Amino acid sequence: MNDQIFEVVVSTLSSDGQPHHAPLGVRYQGAEVVLMPFKPSSTLLNILDSGCAVLNVLADTRVIAGCVTGRCDWPTRSAERVPGVRLECALSHVELRLKEQQDNRKRPVLPS
Ligand SMILES: Cc1cc2nc3c(=O)[nH]c(=O)nc-3n(C[C@H](O)[C@H](O)[C@H](O)COP(=O)(O)O)c2cc1C
Repeated sequence: MNDQIFEVVVSTLSSDGQPHHAPLGVRYQGAEVVLMPFKPSSTLLNILDSGCAVLNVLADTRVIAGCVTGRCDWPTRSAERVPGVRLECALSHVELRLKEQQDNRKRPVLPS
């Protein structure tokens, strides 16, 4: 796995369809994106539940600050290839489907 970490915001949907955004460091393994969300977290729960996530590449650091301070009502658009949303202010985004789950007590590995 490439050791370089890309800081992005990962958007997921809860089981009742509510968007959730969380800053995450992700890595690439070939063409796959590897997510390692901590346990417990809404992001992990939502990915395991829906099998999908959207990775947003941002320059607007207010979104990251908002995730930390509780402001999370950022405008979104529908994702095109997976059930989910992307952040409207994203410079680019990648729509991901979960391929497998390597469970871990604290930090499961989720290649997508
Ligand atoms: C800059 C930044 C990078 C982060 N990177 C990760 C990460 O790689 N993995 C992770 O589980 N949480 C990371 N976090 C914390 C999560 O974004 C989040 O706050 C926490 O996991 C709670 O997740 P939840 O909102 O999905 O419940 C990061 C937070 C910040 C501010």
